[in-house]
Order: sequence, then structure tokens, then C-alpha cells
Amino acid sequence: MRVLMVGSEVAPFAKSGGLGDVLGALPPVLVEAGIETAVVLPRYRRIPLAGLRKVFGDLQIWMSGGYYLADIYQLDLRGVAHYLVDCPPLYDRDNFYGYDDDHVRFGALCRAALEVARHLFRPDVIHCHDWQAGLLPLYLKNFFPGDAAMARIKTVMTIHSLEHRGLFPPSQLAAVGLNSSYWRSDLVEFNGMGSTMKAGIVFADRVTTVSPNYAREIQTAEYGWGLDGLLRARSGALTGLLNGVDYTEWNPETDPHIADIYSAEALEGKRNCKAALLKQFGFPVEEVIDRPLIGVVSRLADQKGFDLLGQVFHEFCAEDITFILLGSGDPRQETMFWHMEEFHKAKVRAYLGFSNALAHQIYAGSDMFLMPSKYEPCGLSQLYALRYGTIPIVRATGGLDDTIDAGTGFKFWGYNGWEMLLAIRSALEVYRNDPAGWQAMVVRAMGQDFSWKQTVQAYRELYRSL
Ligand code: ADP
Ligand code: GLC
Repeated sequence: MRVLMVGSEVAPFAKSGGLGDVLGALPPVLVEAGIETAVVLPRYRRIPLAGLRKVFGDLQIWMSGGYYLADIYQLDLRGVAHYLVDCPPLYDRDNFYGYDDDHVRFGALCRAALEVARHLFRPDVIHCHDWQAGLLPLYLKNFFPGDAAMARIKTVMTIHSLEHRGLFPPSQLAAVGLNSSYWRSDLVEFNGMGSTMKAGIVFADRVTTVSPNYAREIQTAEYGWGLDGLLRARSGALTGLLNGVDYTEWNPETDPHIADIYSAEALEGKRNCKAALLKQFGFPVEEVIDRPLIGVVSRLADQKGFDLLGQVFHEFCAEDITFILLGSGDPRQETMFWHMEEFHKAKVRAYLGFSNALAHQIYAGSDMFLMPSKYEPCGLSQLYALRYGTIPIVRATGGLDDTIDAGTGFKFWGYNGWEMLLAIRSALEVYRNDPAGWQAMVVRAMGQDFSWKQTVQAYRELYRSL
């Protein structure tokens, strides 16, 4: 069986969130399970060409009557061929997304991936990830008449987050290579805009998302972003398969980024990690080492629920805690955390940026991990926190509800700051007044197994059924 994955982020090449983790970790595990797997992604500016091998030159990517010229470069990692589409007018830019022509950039990625499927890696299944790969099933089913080999390929569309639906204005239909016959509310038209995510859901043979709970939630108006009706209509083809953790990267027993290694049997190293983290952020270590340390590693986006912290800002900071946040994104949220640090210097530090090493250090050095998401398709951060014995405090939504229980973390349900504060206070109470109970939770958390093993079997069954 041969599977070609297509997506916009693949660790270690490109990552801004969990999509990069999944596309970095799942393919090698599929390979270990005997499924030949390759990945197509853009060659962004920040990915150096050195070390990549050119395997196809001057590929014509046809879009709306003209074409872009691209070279395809290959690099094999952990048994997985990575095909990087080098097309400077589209991808030689500072950021992954956020441009007016994103629909064209990623439409072209889909077309390029189909050329990879014709010339370089002939798959049985093409597995498309999120809106960036949403147009691929449509292109495959409509643009290769008479090509029997292409007609045999099946497609899976995985929704990592429904919020970003790949919207583009009607005037841009031709720019993604489509004529007006596709402008139908049962195809790509969505409330007056075009949607690449919708196209993917309509045309893919199967649709998956990244937790069982989120698969149910997106069929409701509350979480469906206007696509819940379509998802209910396709519910027979929709499943929720929980993401896994790559424990070769996220493991306190071997992690090269952290100050000291540790395990559930020998936890002293975790205290050393806490001390190192506090020191790094300029806290007087001796004075604050016994104070509970709440950590956050997150994209700062509405999804992540930090407006709840804004609601109870003063009460939260009045608690006897230390709070360290690593995050970047929405400028309003960055400003909020900047203020929080400015006015509560004795307790709060915010590092506004992206740092993989620091992320590891926060998972390891914190006592608790806060994730008050408004919605959370799966969430990997809480799973990393568990492995590092850092107790998650989460809103019970999506994958957070599926993965955290009363034995491994603290949950709240209503989306409001006071409920969050109550959950935080419950955690602080156990931490301070029941050290043995806390330690038992830490050990239980570290023993949870969220490896890819089960999910890989489920993907294998899904591919096979196609
Ligand atoms: P999402 O994909 O919605 O951002 P996940 O919990 O699935 O949420 O995955 C987030 C991933 O991104 C984790 O690997 C987390 O450590 C990482 N991450 C998020 N923000 C940062 C940051 N500012 N610096 C480093 N890593 C980050
Ligand atoms: C998205 C979701 C996150 C999920 C990740 C990987 O970014 O927000 O919940 O874990 O994709 O699937």
C-alpha cells in the first residue's frame, strides 16, 4: 500500500502548530507499519536548499490558463520521501500563510502533488490535510479524464481545524483553475465565498478529523463553522482518529533540550528542570521553587481561549503562583500577556515568540499546564505535558475531553473565566494540601500511552477499506 500525504506544515521542515507535528510523526510510523509513505510540502524560504536533491526540473503547474514553473526536491527522513515544491513566486516568502493569494499558493501545491503522484511516487491513496490540500480531491476527480491510473487513486481529507476554511472571493475562482460550473452551493461555494475546505469535504472519498469528540462536535452548529450540515450529510464517510505523540521527541528520559532528565520512577530531575526554567526567566529560584508553576505553550489565537484569562486576570495573578507563557500570534493577546508581565513581574513571565527548545523546557519544568481552549480538534500540547508529568488544566472540549480525565488532570466545561479559575484553584488545592495525591497524579499522567500505535492501525484499516 502506498500513501502520499499533502500538507502545508511538516516538522522538522516547517511547523507553526500541531499540523507540523502530525505530518512529521505519522508518516514514519506508517512506514514502520509497512505502508510506503511520502509527503509533499512547499519549499518555503526558511527551508534551505542545501542537502536537498533535485528530482524534477521545470515542472509546469497549470492554474487558470497559465503555469508556474517549479522544481521538485527530495529528502528522505526516517524512511519517508519528502517532496518539496520549489516555486519562488509562491513560497519564497517570510511566512507560511496570511497572504491574499493563499488559495492560489496552496491550490498550486495540490496540482504539484498530483504531478508528483504521476511522475515520482504513484500512490494508492492521497491523504490531504486541512484547507491547504482541500482542492486536491476535486482536481483529481475532474482534471484527469481518460487517465485510468489517476482514476484509481482514492483520497482522504483530514480536518485538523474547521475554522480555517480556505475562503476566497468569487472573482478568484478562475485563479484556482476552476470554471463557473463549480460555483454551486453543493460544491465549492460557501456563503458567497469559495472554500477549499468545503471542496475537500465534498470530493474526498473519506473525511477524518483528529479526535472522536471533535468528529461529533463539528456536526453541530456550535462547532461546525457553517459546514455542519455538509458534515452531517457526509457522516457515513466521517471518522475521528485521535492524534498520537512521537515519544522519540517528547520524552523526559532522553530529551536533549531540558536541564535534567527524569522518569516516573526517578522524579528529582523534574525539580531541577523547574529550577533551571525559573532561573532562565530571572526568578529568585530559592524563594519560588515550591510555589506551583503554571506553564503555557501555545499559538495565541482565539481558539486557545486566553480571553478567559483576561476576564479573571487580577484574581488569577492574586493566587500564590508562578506563570510562564511561551506563545505568539494575535497581537491583542500578545499585548495582554505583555501587560500581565509588566504589572505582575514577581509572578508572571511571557516569552512572545516561537522556540522549540523552550517549549520542551516549559513542558518539563512546569507543575501544571493551562489549556482553556474554546475549541480543540485534538491538542498535542496537553499530551506532551502528560508525558512530562505536568498536570493539564483544560476546558473539556474536543480532544482535550477525550484525553484528560480526573486521574490525570483538571477540567472545566463552561466557556467562562470563573469556571476556569475554579479548576485552577482545585489544582492548586491538591498541589498544596495533598502532595501524595499530586505525586500519584503525576505518575499516572506520565504512564499514559498516547503513541501513534492504535491510530496507525485505524488509518491502515481506513486506507485498506478504500
Ligand atoms: P495547535 O495545532 O492548535 O497549535 P497542538 O496542541 O495540536 O495545537 O500543537 C501545538 C504544537 O505547537 C505543539 O508542538 C507546541 O509545543 C507547539 N507550539 C505552539 N506554540 C509554540 C511556540 N510559541 N513555540 C514553540 N512551540 C510552539
Ligand atoms: C490543529 C488543531 C489541534 C490539533 C492539530 C493537529 O492545529 O488546532 O487541536 O492537535 O491541528 O491535528
